[in-house]
Amino acid sequence: MLQKITRIATIVFLVVFVASCTHKKIAKMPTLTVKNHSFSNYDSVKLTHINLHLKVDFDKRILSGKAVLDIENTSACQYLILDTRQLNIEDVMLDDSVSAAWSLGEETPIVGRALVIALTKNTRKVAVYYSTRPDAEAIMWLNPEQTLGKKHPFMFTQSQAILARTWVPCMDVPAVRFTYSADIECDSKYLPLMSATNNFKRNTTGRYHFDMPQPIPSYLMALAVGNIEFQALSNNTGVFAEPEMLKKAANEFSELPVMVAAASKLYGEYAWGRYDILVLPPSFPFGGMENPRLTFATPTVIAGDKSLVSLVAHELAHSWSGNLVTNRTWEDFWLNEGFTVYFESRIMEAVYGKSYADMLMALSVGELNHTLETLMKEGPGDTKLKLNLKNRNPDDGVSDIAYVKGAMFLYYLESLYGRKVFDDFLNAYFSHFKWQTVTTEEFIAYFNSHMSKWPKIKPDLNAWIYDVGLPSTCPKIVSQELSRVEKMAELINTEKSLKALDTARFTTQHWLHLFRHLEADSIKNLMADMDKTYNLSASTNSEIQCDWYLLCISNQYTAADPYLEKYLMEVGRRKFLEPLYERLVETPEGKEKANKIFNKAYKGYHAVSRNTIKEILAKSSVK
Ligand code: BES
Ligand code: ZN
Repeated sequence: MLQKITRIATIVFLVVFVASCTHKKIAKMPTLTVKNHSFSNYDSVKLTHINLHLKVDFDKRILSGKAVLDIENTSACQYLILDTRQLNIEDVMLDDSVSAAWSLGEETPIVGRALVIALTKNTRKVAVYYSTRPDAEAIMWLNPEQTLGKKHPFMFTQSQAILARTWVPCMDVPAVRFTYSADIECDSKYLPLMSATNNFKRNTTGRYHFDMPQPIPSYLMALAVGNIEFQALSNNTGVFAEPEMLKKAANEFSELPVMVAAASKLYGEYAWGRYDILVLPPSFPFGGMENPRLTFATPTVIAGDKSLVSLVAHELAHSWSGNLVTNRTWEDFWLNEGFTVYFESRIMEAVYGKSYADMLMALSVGELNHTLETLMKEGPGDTKLKLNLKNRNPDDGVSDIAYVKGAMFLYYLESLYGRKVFDDFLNAYFSHFKWQTVTTEEFIAYFNSHMSKWPKIKPDLNAWIYDVGLPSTCPKIVSQELSRVEKMAELINTEKSLKALDTARFTTQHWLHLFRHLEADSIKNLMADMDKTYNLSASTNSEIQCDWYLLCISNQYTAADPYLEKYLMEVGRRKFLEPLYERLVETPEGKEKANKIFNKAYKGYHAVSRNTIKEILAKSSVK
């Protein structure tokens, strides 16, 4: 009996296997070209909607099912070309019934592999049957030990910049906007969430339906599944998190409704219905990701004192700059991030006051100057706002330039025209380009035409956008609070004593600024004292920890080593890992430590962080 079953199973398997290998191939492949990091032929065929049917398999670490793409093929193109990478394509059907001829192009390292599908004149629906691979870069599968609750697995996707193609075959380029819907099936113990209409409670079937009725670019598609619960903050905002984190997260983000109100007052109505935040496990590689309706956030911003909530202002601001008005290519990335950092700062000012907002912005400018110094040596071209990412990974363009130089450019324009006029411009810009994508050149043209009412004001747009470095017209952000800290740091450095240190009114940002102004050699002998007095190594504030540990490494203050190691094992946020590993590899002893820790920690890092750290370790010339 068993033998018979095995034989039948083998035959069934072979039939399916042979059938899937013998699908009709494309007779003559069209020439495949990469434009804006995509193989897709979005200039010829319009993608309007994607309907996903996916099953989440935690044991195998795969998603499997189909993506049904609605297309408009008005130019009667013979092919649909989609982006894929690390996907197992099983079959392709046209309009629910006809098997299509299809072929995959050559695998290429950054942009992946084109999926070419032969179309008929009347094709309106293309169903791609596929499964993801366990190592798909967009998907992080977490063991129970990597979660807070330690009992259940967890998964989340991160599609930006060009990783959506590793979990959905699509036109993976921000120039293309489409609506999406999804039917997701998972173990009924877990709740799936998407950047779409969400369910707040799990049901007994494990099947959930999602809709994103507004057109979005592929990099905003997102899915997370785990033991997740919800707490409302107002009738259109709330927090999702593992139950162990939910109360803390809701406390930390309690001012979210105020932020949403402030943002809408500045630049127009919030366009997406709800705004919820999902707090992820610590291995999330970013601070936050502006997935529409559902921001993904690192738990490392939950400091207990709301001192790091500007991250929420940032992701919320993307609901306008980025999600509503989107950079057309990754070379125009500053249109997303520069506008967002400016907008973030305006939200912080509206909610927490000018002095605090200035302090945050001035800290960021400090970081920008540091980045400029390095980039002017290593790749000055990357200090331009408009990037050149030809044959490069868009990830290479993610730096303080797009973020902070971009924001300072807008502060410069604000200073020339005055806040009222500049805010009118921004309102007009968001309303004119909403649901569309914009290039840098279109921004310039729109700006010039809108501002032609003030012909006497002549902003130097080209210098800011197309030249390297920071123009001399960059406004100075003065923060009295930070100046006070600088004076203290100076005294500490010269006196080689902590006498001048007065932390009575210190916030997280004061500490960061202090650490950044202490000179390694001058304070070597003060490290232990500082640590003892302020309990810094054992701090639970992720930002303070990162900057303090940097100082510890530079001063060979090894008493902090166990804390540093624990931090590098637990936290997966690239922003923290990157500078710490970089600082470690500067000396032979440090490099040895770095390698040791990385070998233990890398399995817990997201691919995005792991790749960056691997590069740092490989690049270091220290023996
Ligand atoms: N959209 C970005 C994250 C991103 C950028 C992911 C490029 C992949 C490629 C997000 O809005 C962001 O900027 N996050 C920052 C936090 C922010 C407060 C500066 C981060 O993750 O550190
Ligand atoms: Zn951002």
